[in-house]
Amino acid sequence: MQLPKWQNGIENYSKVISEIVNGMKRKIAVIGAGPSGITALKNLLDQGLDAVAFDRNTEVGGNWIYSESESHSSVFETTHIISSKTLSQYEDFTFDEFDPETSDYPSHDELRGYFQAYAKKFNLYPYIRFGTMVRSCKWIDDQTWEITTEKDGVESKEIFTDLAVCNGHHWKPRYPDYPGTFTGEFLHSHHFKKAAPFEGKRVLVIGGGNSACDVAVETSRVSKKTAISWRRGYRIVPKFFFGKPSDKVAEQTKWLPVWLRMRLNQVLLKIMIGDNEAYGLRPVTEPFGATHPTINDELLHKIRHGKVKPRMDIERFDGKKVIFEDGKTEEFDSIVACTGYWLSHPFFEKDFIDYSKGPVPLYLKMFHEKYENLFFIGMFQPLGCIWPGAELQSKIMARQLTGEWQRPENIAELCQKEVENPHFKQVNTPRHTITVDYHLFIKALKKHLPKDYVSKNPKQEFIKETSS
Ligand SMILES: Cc1cc2nc3c(=O)[nH]c(=O)nc-3n(C[C@H](O)[C@H](O)[C@H](O)COP(=O)(O)OP(=O)(O)OC[C@H]3O[C@@H](n4cnc5c(N)ncnc54)[C@H](O)[C@@H]3O)c2cc1C
Ligand SMILES: NC(=O)c1ccc[n+]([C@@H]2O[C@H](COP(=O)([O-])OP(=O)(O)OC[C@H]3O[C@@H](n4cnc5c(N)ncnc54)[C@H](OP(=O)(O)O)[C@@H]3O)[C@@H](O)[C@H]2O)c1
Repeated sequence: MQLPKWQNGIENYSKVISEIVNGMKRKIAVIGAGPSGITALKNLLDQGLDAVAFDRNTEVGGNWIYSESESHSSVFETTHIISSKTLSQYEDFTFDEFDPETSDYPSHDELRGYFQAYAKKFNLYPYIRFGTMVRSCKWIDDQTWEITTEKDGVESKEIFTDLAVCNGHHWKPRYPDYPGTFTGEFLHSHHFKKAAPFEGKRVLVIGGGNSACDVAVETSRVSKKTAISWRRGYRIVPKFFFGKPSDKVAEQTKWLPVWLRMRLNQVLLKIMIGDNEAYGLRPVTEPFGATHPTINDELLHKIRHGKVKPRMDIERFDGKKVIFEDGKTEEFDSIVACTGYWLSHPFFEKDFIDYSKGPVPLYLKMFHEKYENLFFIGMFQPLGCIWPGAELQSKIMARQLTGEWQRPENIAELCQKEVENPHFKQVNTPRHTITVDYHLFIKALKKHLPKDYVSKNPKQEFIKETSS
């Protein structure tokens, strides 16, 4: 008789327990096969560890798998990355190794191709269970996790020794709340897929982050009117300075202290762009870095061409009318709230771990002070790209699991220190709980790795094992 899947899981439990007792064999579960999950998996396998990744999707790529229907992904038809390619690549597999013709700021489709090529090159597919949702992760002890997954409506339980959480942090919409009722169409940027449905409509976009500015630019191409409401002033950073990607220009000063670098960015922007008031936008009141940077080449152009109208914060709704805080009242057909995302781990009990409101006390943004067999990969917000840091985190995690790297004894103190000494002093809003400076963070991670940490060749023993 064939056992139901969950009973197989229980059998597996005793097998794993006995293996642990007898030989300390580790088995690692990775949640997600997005940019963070695939590098976690690759680096675990590189160290000869036994690992499995679960993904609710049917392919590798996470957020970068564009789809017109509702999915995990929050990218839209025209999304291009905001960090340039040489600062947005894995060291183990660069864009030049993938396709030297990749654009300076790759599109979602180029990125999807890159991540899938990484997974193929390192032979990760046999280790990924697609179409599988991780429903619950129960910590039993420092050697044991009970993971419940669901595939095709069937639940299974399985035991692992370690857990790498790579579920992303830009998929659960955070909606704003205003007095009154808006009777037009109201959606979050997670659900915005393309501009075409907004043709001829009066559109209001809320927010000053990268989603808001991208969405406003896109709807302005087809809408009757597009306005953008900001609750504070933001600096809009162009994608190029002096013919070079702006992050490559900023990289030249990476050896300077953060405060001086930010001051230089501020001066450069003032010279190149001028003040927000010149565009009818709210003036900036905070220093550079106090909010996550907004990088956009077209918004200011659209504003100066009358295609996007700057507006103040919203005071209340009344039917299709929006009343702004300066008393201006205007009618809209559609509102797109580009108000960010919750940090969410729905597979943990809330009283176990809940980082949705901050703070996030994790050493190197990955190690928990108490749970030695739990790792967060890619759960940080750099002023730059996520996956180069996720790659280094993965290499440290794998080395902890082989015993090559030891957790510091004062890890609780280090977690607290990170919370109390962020790289930037930022405005106290929900999106600013996991910010790091890209260059400082990469440097801090590299300190924990040997000089020869780059590993460009797939591990042959795994290829043999899976192809036989
Ligand atoms: C519009 C937009 C543009 C962005 N642009 C940039 C950029 O320019 N540069 C940058 O660095 N970042 C950018 N980001 C941030 C983005 O989060 C990262 O680029 C990147 O996708 C992070 O990779 P990840 O693997 O950590 O998460 P994701 O890409 O979100 O992947 C997570 C994976 O986990 C899976 N998953 C989640 N929960 C479960 C579960 N319970 N069970 C099974 N599977 C699960 C998902 O299916 C997904 O495949 C952007 C985000 C958005 C929304
Ligand atoms: N092209 C790209 O590559 C691209 C495109 C889109 C997004 N992204 C990335 O995806 C991530 C998410 O970006 P995002 O723009 O979706 O979200 P975000 O960075 O969290 O920005 C949310 C914006 O909405 C504002 N906001 C939040 N709640 C509000 C409220 N109740 N009322 C009014 N305003 C409110 C925030 O204001 P505060 O400043 O006060 O917090 C901020 O301006 C970021 O990492 C971003 O860089 C990249």
